[in-house]
Amino acid sequence: MRAVRRFERSPVPHVFVEQWFEHARRCGSSKNSQPWRFAAVTDPQVLAVLAGCGDDGAFLADAPLGIAVAAVQGAFPFSTIFDLGRVSQAIMIAAWADGVGTCPVVLEPADRIEEARRALHVPSRCRLDLVIACGFPAKVPAGRLDRLPRETIRQFETFSQGQFSLEIPQGPRT
Ligand SMILES: Cc1cc2nc3c(=O)[nH]c(=O)nc-3n(C[C@H](O)[C@H](O)[C@H](O)COP(=O)(O)O)c2cc1C
Repeated sequence: MRAVRRFERSPVPHVFVEQWFEHARRCGSSKNSQPWRFAAVTDPQVLAVLAGCGDDGAFLADAPLGIAVAAVQGAFPFSTIFDLGRVSQAIMIAAWADGVGTCPVVLEPADRIEEARRALHVPSRCRLDLVIACGFPAKVPAGRLDRLPRETIRQFETFSQGQFSLEIPQGPRT
């Protein structure tokens, strides 16, 4: 599954979105806390606002759908962030299986997160960091998968041998 950032204009069927939310609802989470809450946004004006609330999210303005991923704040921030990533991936895989492309858009910095929160009426107890742009792909990335080599990321027994490296790619997201 590749990140898709160019979408056809056609709307994403509502029945698809309901099915993705059902996948999300069934997803496991830390202590079964299910901290996620979602808003499926199709209003172009709101999507345009959200597109301006991230450094690399301009394409969200041209997406037929954005799924805002909020979380009820818990006492375990790592677990909450893990749960949000896990449930977001569940939605993205379900979308891909329906022929719908997606790309996460991180909201940043704090003042623009606040703008997005206002646009979506996010309750104060929730955090909001991510909107998933969704739509039928107008263009699927065709280039080589740009990933670290296997030897770079995996070791056996300890983290101290072979070609294991701490390289963090700094390439462009798009
Ligand atoms: C947590 C997270 C945040 C991301 N935020 C953005 C973003 O703000 N803008 C963007 O264009 N892509 C974003 N992406 C998509 C990544 O850039 C993409 O998954 C990565 O470059 C691999 O792309 P590929 O599937 O085409 O190989 C994000 C991905 C993740 C997992």
